[in-house]
Amino acid sequence: MKDNTMIIAIDGPAAAGKGTLARRLASELGFDYLDTGLIYRAVGMKLAHAGHDPSDVIAAERAARTLSPADLEAPDLRQDEAAQAASKVAVIPGVRAALLEFQRNFASHPPGAKGAVLDGRDIGTVVCPAADVKLFVTASLEKRAERRLKELQEKGLEAIHSTVLADMRERDERDRNRSVAPLVPADGAVVLDTSDLDADQAFAWTLAHIRSK
Ligand code: DC
Repeated sequence: MKDNTMIIAIDGPAAAGKGTLARRLASELGFDYLDTGLIYRAVGMKLAHAGHDPSDVIAAERAARTLSPADLEAPDLRQDEAAQAASKVAVIPGVRAALLEFQRNFASHPPGAKGAVLDGRDIGTVVCPAADVKLFVTASLEKRAERRLKELQEKGLEAIHSTVLADMRERDERDRNRSVAPLVPADGAVVLDTSDLDADQAFAWTLAHIRSK
């Protein structure tokens, strides 16, 4: 515990189930929740809307430094274009540095709660290495692509299995191989493979793990 605030750090690749899990844990425990992927998505889409390439280092760093709460409300942040743009701006060290303080502040002083749940790619390794609970939630690429495809179809969006799989593989590679804060399980993280678990089973297991601490 830090300042009486309990921090739960959840990392893992796309569509492994970490967002659903993090949201349910926060609601069950009465903690605040921060989806850190949304911040990177907002930076990526801010650039796209201004007509810049997400790999434009100067524009990306400026977008990260000037990110406003309104940028986090943009309607297109859940789309795949935002995911790809996020993964591209996320390799830029200056972007990560600009977003670090906001995430750490949220974790140590969650706005209205006694604890915080953060999910992302580097929460246990970089943002909150002293978190009370660290989880690395993963699943096979096939299972994750299947889930993402179902999610898109349920939203009425057109999606092709092979494209979803290829996009996810590309994003995994970029997130795992970047030089700053690559996606790896943190020291002390418990790995939860959700390939053969549904959301209820993953939640029950994690809650029991947290309560045993
Ligand atoms: O969790 P997500 O799919 O919304 O994240 C989108 C991208 O943002 C992801 O591919 C990499 C980047 N990201 C990151 O680098 N670090 C984080 N803590 C969260 C997301």
